[in-house]
Amino acid sequence: MTHRRILLIIGGGIAAYKAIELVRLLRKAGHSVRCVLTRAGEQFVTPLTLAALSENKVYTYLFDLKDEVEMGHIQLSREADLVVVAPATADLLAKMAGGIADDLATTLLLATDKPVLAAPAMNVRMWLHPATQRNVATLRGDGVTVMEPDEGEMACGEYGPGRLPEPEAIKAAIEAALAQGTIVRPLGGQPDFAPAAAEAGAEVLLVAGPVPLPTPPGVIRVDVETAREMAAEVEAGLPVDAAIMVAAVADWRAADTSAQKIKKDGSGEVPPLALAENPDILASVAKSAKRPPLLVGFAAETNDVIAHAQAKLARKGCDLIVANDVSADPMGGETNRVHIVSKAGIDSWDRLPKEAVARKLMEKIADELDTRVPLADD
Ligand SMILES: Cc1cc2nc3c(=O)[nH]c(=O)nc-3n(C[C@H](O)[C@H](O)[C@H](O)COP(=O)(O)O)c2cc1C
Repeated sequence: MTHRRILLIIGGGIAAYKAIELVRLLRKAGHSVRCVLTRAGEQFVTPLTLAALSENKVYTYLFDLKDEVEMGHIQLSREADLVVVAPATADLLAKMAGGIADDLATTLLLATDKPVLAAPAMNVRMWLHPATQRNVATLRGDGVTVMEPDEGEMACGEYGPGRLPEPEAIKAAIEAALAQGTIVRPLGGQPDFAPAAAEAGAEVLLVAGPVPLPTPPGVIRVDVETAREMAAEVEAGLPVDAAIMVAAVADWRAADTSAQKIKKDGSGEVPPLALAENPDILASVAKSAKRPPLLVGFAAETNDVIAHAQAKLARKGCDLIVANDVSADPMGGETNRVHIVSKAGIDSWDRLPKEAVARKLMEKIADELDTRVPLADD
């Protein structure tokens, strides 16, 4: 990756010390870093440490005439390639979501025209509080990349989500956000593709069903439980350069749910079970006004694999179908033999380990995108 300019805003959280390590990692990778410390941030780390590590002046106050003459606050927010907030405290997230600009950090965040990535860190109750969750949802809706905090033991002794992601993971997310051209957002319940996409330098949004798998570094993950939630999150995630729709979503759901347990009444009669159709997420993304330039679907078949995949390609209106013969390679296995079906024809790959299939598919997607998506300006 070429060297880029990062404006790093450090909030007033106990994890601010990890921002020091982040600056070191970013400098080591050759990026230039300019730090802005909030007033509360200054209680945790000193401008001197950050200036020494970033080899740049550190900014703190809004109304500093000397600073304003050297570099105006609007210019400061615009000359970066990416604005990063780490640690993003509950207070900073709330101010960002509310458009408050009452100090240098929040004014820069409101004035910037550059992508913003926030790495939250706070006590588990603060993170899980509906106000914070609402603010995070608002920010994501506004296009801010908000990383999921890590889960674990906190400085305050409590346990849960709220820890600042490790500096290496923040660096990976920064590099994914800075990566040009391709923005790939795999959607669904098989995160095998998410690490391969992030490794390939894409900004990745993973909309995941209830799967007990770790979130790969650099991947933004939104967890959903129902098909309708998944459809809503996928729609909210658009526009993207490529959508990889790998989730096997149930076609049907129970039409009615009961607030109470439905008890046996001794009559031996089975209560009727009515079903309602779930949204067809792939087909609705294909028809969306924000349809991605590249839409990839999957087909797991037991017979007539290619014929079924060709029919699905036409029916769903996608660009590629990755067809998988699950009679030859069972779902839970380590290898896959896939056929890439498109209007251009059929490309049958050898049997490969699943990770290799994921990597090869990312190469295929990058090639396809090169022909469809203009590269972003530097
Ligand atoms: C010792 C200490 C640790 C704190 N750690 C955090 C934290 O990790 N996350 C957070 O959101 N707030 C934390 N706070 C509260 C924030 O410092 C406070 O909300 C402050 O106004 C945030 O300022 P900022 O918007 O400049 O980040 C902590 C406060 C203290 C006294």
